[in-house]
Amino acid sequence: MNKKEAKKQGCLQPVPKVLISCRGLDGENDILPVVCCCNCSMNPPMVAVGILLVNYSHHMIKESGCFAINLVDQNLQHVIDYMGSHSRRNEDKIAQMGIKMCEGQKINASVIQDCPVNIECKVIGSMVTGSHELFIAQVEHVSADANLIRDDGSIDFSRINFL
Ligand SMILES: Cc1cc2nc3c(=O)[nH]c(=O)nc-3n(C[C@H](O)[C@H](O)[C@H](O)COP(=O)(O)O)c2cc1C
Repeated sequence: MNKKEAKKQGCLQPVPKVLISCRGLDGENDILPVVCCCNCSMNPPMVAVGILLVNYSHHMIKESGCFAINLVDQNLQHVIDYMGSHSRRNEDKIAQMGIKMCEGQKINASVIQDCPVNIECKVIGSMVTGSHELFIAQVEHVSADANLIRDDGSIDFSRINFL
C-alpha cells in the first residue's frame, strides 16, 4: 500500500447516520441528522453527539439537557435529506414532513415513531471542540421495534437495513 497525506476532516469512517430529536424549553421540537455520534461507555451506557454551534437545535439540547438518537433505515433517506438541509429556525420541519412523533418515556423530548430504535439520553457534560459542541449523555431508555428484540432484550441490528 502506497500512502500519501490526505484531508483530516471527517477522516474517521465509517460513521453512523442518525436522526437526533430534541425539544426547546418553549416546547418547540426539532429533528436533525448527525454523523458525529458514537457509543462512549458501555457501563454505564453512554453516547457522545457533536452538534454544530450554529445549528438551531444546539440551544435546545444545551438548555433542556436531553435528546433522543433515532436509528435510521433505508426507508428514511428522504428524512435525512430534508432535515439536514432545512432549519427549525425558519420552519417547523416536523410538521412540514408530517413525521409521526411520540413522547419519550424518560426525557422531555419526542422520539420518531418510524425509526426502528429510539435511544433516550440525558446530557451529563459537554465540551466545545471547535465547530461543534460534544454532548456526553447517559442512555436512559431504549425502545425498539418488537420484532427486532431477542429473548434476552438485545436488539438484532443485523435485521435493520442501515443507510
Ligand atoms: C448526512 C448529514 C450529517 C450531518 N451531521 C451533522 C452532525 O454531526 N452534527 C451537526 O450538528 N450537524 C450535522 N449535520 C447538519 C445538520 O443536520 C443541519 O445543519 C440541520 O439543518 C440543522 O438543523 P437545525 O438548524 O434545525 O438544528 C448533518 C447533515 C447531514 C445531511
